[in-house]
Amino acid sequence: MSALLSVVDVGKRFRGLIAVDRVSFTVEAGEIFAVIGPNGAGKTTLFNMIAGVLAPNEGTITFRGERISGRTPDAVCRLGVARTFQIVRPFPALTVEDNVVIGALLHRTEMAAARRHARDVLATLDLFDKRDFRASALTLPDRKRLELARALATDPKLLLLDEVMAGLRPTETDRMVEILRGVNRDMGVTILLIEHVMRAVMALAGHMLVLHHGAPIAKGKPEDVVRDQKVITSYLGQESI
Ligand SMILES: Nc1ncnc2c1ncn2[C@@H]1O[C@H](COP(=O)(O)OP(=O)(O)O)[C@@H](O)[C@H]1O
Ligand SMILES: [Mg+2]
Repeated sequence: MSALLSVVDVGKRFRGLIAVDRVSFTVEAGEIFAVIGPNGAGKTTLFNMIAGVLAPNEGTITFRGERISGRTPDAVCRLGVARTFQIVRPFPALTVEDNVVIGALLHRTEMAAARRHARDVLATLDLFDKRDFRASALTLPDRKRLELARALATDPKLLLLDEVMAGLRPTETDRMVEILRGVNRDMGVTILLIEHVMRAVMALAGHMLVLHHGAPIAKGKPEDVVRDQKVITSYLGQESI
């Protein structure tokens, strides 16, 4: 199986600060891959480079065999990479449905087809009954699912999720885990997620990468990575305090 996404020796500096330090990993088509690490470890910066928001200072990112590093977010999205933001940001004055229609229009020119697709996605994410609400009227868990719906409406091959569980209660987290499993299994979408909620990571991820001060300190299957002494010392230990 060839890699869907391949990140090779990627680095990013902000003036003197090395935010991402020679990171390499591959994500295979069909898998769920997690990136974990303490705040400030460089996770969001890594996502921004994959999504085309930031150009790496060094290294290469390849998606389906094409180099995407240095391309615009729009170009990367058209190739089939969609992302959610750590801080959710739907268009607040638009309805839930219209927020999703905007995503659906990326690969559709007809409004009726875009609306049909948006409604299908809303039904999958349990938001269909709230399609006429303004986005600003939604609760946090609903806004998180709307953020996911907007990304899914663009028909991604790869979905980048930046802390979609943050701020959710345990029952809402479990619901999101089930939704993401369905998106991965039933819609065939490969998922790369940044996540602090270890319960969700352990339930979803087939492979994971741990970043610390921008550098990769462990990589592999979740059950092996969580036993790694470096990971316990730099991340998991502090989480359990
Ligand atoms: N646009 C930016 N300009 C300067 N420094 C930044 C910028 N974005 C992130 N950083 C810094 O880079 C480091 C990594 O940040 P980030 O990627 O947001 O980490 P994480 O998502 O793992 O919490 C942090 O020290 C952060 O302050
Ligand atoms: Mg972040």
